[in-house]
Amino acid sequence: MKITTYSHDETLAFGKRLGQCFEPGDIVLLFGDLGAGKTTLTQGLCLGLGLAEDDYIRSPTFTLVNEYQGTATIYHIDLYRLDSLREIGALGLEETLFSNGVSIIEWAEKLFPKSNPEQSAPAMGIEKRIEIHISIEEETQRTFQIELVNQSQRTLPL
Ligand SMILES: Nc1ncnc2c1ncn2[C@@H]1O[C@H](COP(=O)(O)OP(=O)(O)O)[C@@H](O)[C@H]1O
Ligand SMILES: [Mg+2]
Repeated sequence: MKITTYSHDETLAFGKRLGQCFEPGDIVLLFGDLGAGKTTLTQGLCLGLGLAEDDYIRSPTFTLVNEYQGTATIYHIDLYRLDSLREIGALGLEETLFSNGVSIIEWAEKLFPKSNPEQSAPAMGIEKRIEIHISIEEETQRTFQIELVNQSQRTLPL
């Protein structure tokens, strides 16, 4: 599924609708360059998961994982500062990911080996997931490509 937004607020609104479709245990992988809108989309997703407009969501670049309590526990993870799969493996995030929470991961590119990202499975044994690939089209235009991976029975009622 592909959707285009033309403003920050439109991305928030789209994220909110999408977040309402999430289920406990979902792992959401966000791909896209700096400024693509990963954190903005995450803010929207959190609204959809029951957080209030004035709950302040920001990239956990230094803390690595931020936790919020919505209709599910939300774990917002940013892998930006991590350089290797070994470093990521050493974090012990599995318990967080394979819980009843919803995990949203920025810079999901880092979960894949640089040499062969397309043919590889993501690190930490992640199989079932929602992948969202964000492209910057214009200054305020973003395209979101959404794919359910290893969840053949499921569709997102957007
Ligand atoms: N359509 C859009 N969707 C999301 N963000 C947008 C859009 N148009 C402009 N922006 C701006 O792009 C920036 C996205 O930043 P951010 O969400 O922090 O990106 P990332 O986390 O991917 O680095 C924000 O300054 C936001 O206002
Ligand atoms: Mg960010």
